[in-house]
Amino acid sequence: MKATARTISGMRRSGIREIMDLAAQDRDVLRLEVGDPNFPTPTHIIEAAAQAAADGFTKYTANRGIPSVRETLATKIAMQNGFEVGIDQLVVTTGAVTALLQSLMVLCDPGDVVLLPDLAWPNYEMMTTVIDAPVRRYPLDPARGFLPDLDALDRICRDTPLAKALVINSPANPTGGVFDRPTVEGLIDIANRYDLYLVSDEAYEDIIFEGGHISPASLNGSGRVISVFTVSKSYAMTGWRIGYVAASQEVAALISKLQEAMTSCATAVAQKAAQAAIGGDQACVAEMRDAYRQRRDMTTDLLAEEGLLITKPHGAFYVLADTSPTGLDGYEFCRKLIVQRGVALAPGETFGSTGSGKVRISLATAPADLEEGVRRFCAAVRDWS
Ligand SMILES: Cc1ncc(COP(=O)(O)O)c(C=O)c1O
Repeated sequence: MKATARTISGMRRSGIREIMDLAAQDRDVLRLEVGDPNFPTPTHIIEAAAQAAADGFTKYTANRGIPSVRETLATKIAMQNGFEVGIDQLVVTTGAVTALLQSLMVLCDPGDVVLLPDLAWPNYEMMTTVIDAPVRRYPLDPARGFLPDLDALDRICRDTPLAKALVINSPANPTGGVFDRPTVEGLIDIANRYDLYLVSDEAYEDIIFEGGHISPASLNGSGRVISVFTVSKSYAMTGWRIGYVAASQEVAALISKLQEAMTSCATAVAQKAAQAAIGGDQACVAEMRDAYRQRRDMTTDLLAEEGLLITKPHGAFYVLADTSPTGLDGYEFCRKLIVQRGVALAPGETFGSTGSGKVRISLATAPADLEEGVRRFCAAVRDWS
């Protein structure tokens, strides 16, 4: 038989999924590797979805999504994100992951370079493999809460004439960095100067403990910003698979066209659930954020006591911890931690080259498991150093 496509067979897996698969083999493992909120989807959202199914939202929708759902999204974006979009600038997608992949697909031809942060969510690199786009990583500054190093990014852009898209992520996975206004302005400035599309992944926009969320599109009207959002993290709706993207009419039309080839449309009943989430009472968002804040504080206190805290995250729901005293490679450390201590964490290397000597702890886990997992982690680093 002829070989299957080299692009996909050669694509690196996400290290998070690799550890998830290993952890799933033993029910007693404490699961601190994955960013899936342990909260149930709030009841009013589930009820709205059930009603929508009964009302007949069980069919294909427009490629871009149900118009009334996009109206709700446009209102949310105007009120919360501070920029105006028409519903023809919005596409509802199967999670932010599809919004991001589709955005990169419509922006980049094979060979166009995509600029990714080092450290970054591993799926971005997988997406660049799919579209045959080389990657250049730009550094984050650990001394400044992992904000992008704008001078270094500027130099990289100068050296990379084929760069087409600059991917940014705030609040950031895995660092918890929350970009301040000068940083966002600096990124827009670089995008303008080097004629780049700015793909802004705002999946954790509602999970911020210090500072506030600044959507780049609220500072720039030039149409080069592609803003990606999701209900997954804010409303504990990862399994409903609804994200959405706001872009210029031209880019949104291309994403919508591509959507026909990929998924046709996001699931109708899940679109209605997302509408209920975004248009409904927001108390659940604040409750979950407060819970993540308490978990963040507990985790960072425990790690700091042992000298293993890399940085205190200001947003998202992850904490980076230090494994360098053990001298172990991240994958080796994480496999050993599952087998010997019953705790699953994500290896730093899966997020980029500067991830070695680090692991990511997810706060999206029940507090008792989280505390026990962090204690076992600290003991393991002590014992293996
Ligand atoms: C930074 C980042 N962006 C996007 C996503 C994907 O979100 P969704 O569930 O909407 O596809 C994740 C999920 O972990 C993420 O960490």
